[in-house]
Amino acid sequence: MSGTDLESMLVQPNAFLPAARYTSPEFLELELEHLFGKVWQMAGREEQIPAPGDFLEYQIGDESVIIVRSESGGLDAFPNVCLHRGTQLAHGCGHFDGNSIRCPYHSWTYSIDGTLRFVPDREEFPDLPDDLALQHVQVDSWGGFIFVNLDRDAKPLLEMLEPLPTLLAAYHLEELKFRSYLSTVIHANWKTVVDAFNEAYHVQGLHQQILAWTDDVAIAYEQFPLGHAHYGQIGAARGILRPSPRLGLDPSEYDEGELLFSRVNALGGAFMGAERDAVQALRDEGPPEGQTLLEAYQHYRLGVLNGRGFDTSGLEPAQMTSVEDTFVFPNVVGPLFPGTALMFRVRPNGHDPNSCLKDTWVLEWPDPGSDWKMPKIRDYPNWHDRDWGEVTEQDYNNLGNVQAGMRSKACEGLRLNPRQEGNVLRMHEVVDEYITKGLANS
Ligand code: FES
Ligand SMILES: [Fe+2]
Repeated sequence: MSGTDLESMLVQPNAFLPAARYTSPEFLELELEHLFGKVWQMAGREEQIPAPGDFLEYQIGDESVIIVRSESGGLDAFPNVCLHRGTQLAHGCGHFDGNSIRCPYHSWTYSIDGTLRFVPDREEFPDLPDDLALQHVQVDSWGGFIFVNLDRDAKPLLEMLEPLPTLLAAYHLEELKFRSYLSTVIHANWKTVVDAFNEAYHVQGLHQQILAWTDDVAIAYEQFPLGHAHYGQIGAARGILRPSPRLGLDPSEYDEGELLFSRVNALGGAFMGAERDAVQALRDEGPPEGQTLLEAYQHYRLGVLNGRGFDTSGLEPAQMTSVEDTFVFPNVVGPLFPGTALMFRVRPNGHDPNSCLKDTWVLEWPDPGSDWKMPKIRDYPNWHDRDWGEVTEQDYNNLGNVQAGMRSKACEGLRLNPRQEGNVLRMHEVVDEYITKGLANS
């Protein structure tokens, strides 16, 4: 690709994004090499591989990485490539019996630290070095999330996540565990999908039914230098329970109990079963003397979390009902609540700029009295095969339209609202920083 071709796909002045960055196969190749080849990526969670020998596969583009729980309880990672003839060694999530990784093709066998331990008829390979071993891929974790980085010279994970570890410390994400794990394919560029979950400007356009219980106007946005972002009911917006001011309703025209009930029901997965019952009880009986319904509910939720033995000391009661969407650059975004989180991870689907893989992780602080087990990963190659709930289905239907429109010759590009779509803009700027830096170094 010529310099001018690339230039015409980079973020332009005045928050203008050329459409080609979402549709061009060449741009995706640049991203796979210079972004996904260099950035820390969320590969899974610690609880998926609790015991030595447990493994998890992470795929991105043509690369596949095997992450293994080591003998010492730490994490190790290797390219998923046999040293004999390149066969992939393992898929999905599982356990290496006897802590050995046996290639299914000719039985070359590795220890879980990557050393080549056994080669059938080894004496017939006179040139095989004694110390042959799988290379190591950088792997680390934060908040229970396992990250890998294909760049052996990458800076440390915690440094590259700044300021999220500090910002989210009080949420004790490391205590979360999977409640469900769903995967699907969306016919849109991976960035089209990330963008759609990284702003709330579209709520008044696409999800008008939730304006009745969502103050979309109060939503605040914060972007950080490394591309991460945070938005939602942060700062002053916490603790506000009212409909969108766009509806022009007078307080006498809505009922706080109804609003809270609608929010808890519509956000379903973000709340725990016990909480839904509590909202109903509060609605029926009203809040205790001296408390608003929202305050009563916030205290109730705090009580549930404390009752489960989790440390809520860093959280204010107003945070109990605030939806704080977090964007982990480059491809994970979703709302966090105290004790629960929804994370949407989006990856390119092979080399197709018009398709992506989307994983939905529902996480929660499990009830310590319950016997937690890793739920089965449910994969829906066709998203129409599942009921995702009204809001998500609106998003999924819309994403196909966005991608289709952007592929038209008539689409020059995207004109972003610098405040309400500021997370999107920053994310794209940082994608370009990776690409231009990568090209300059190559
Ligand atoms: S390719 Fe793995 S043992 Fe032959
Ligand atoms: Fe949406």
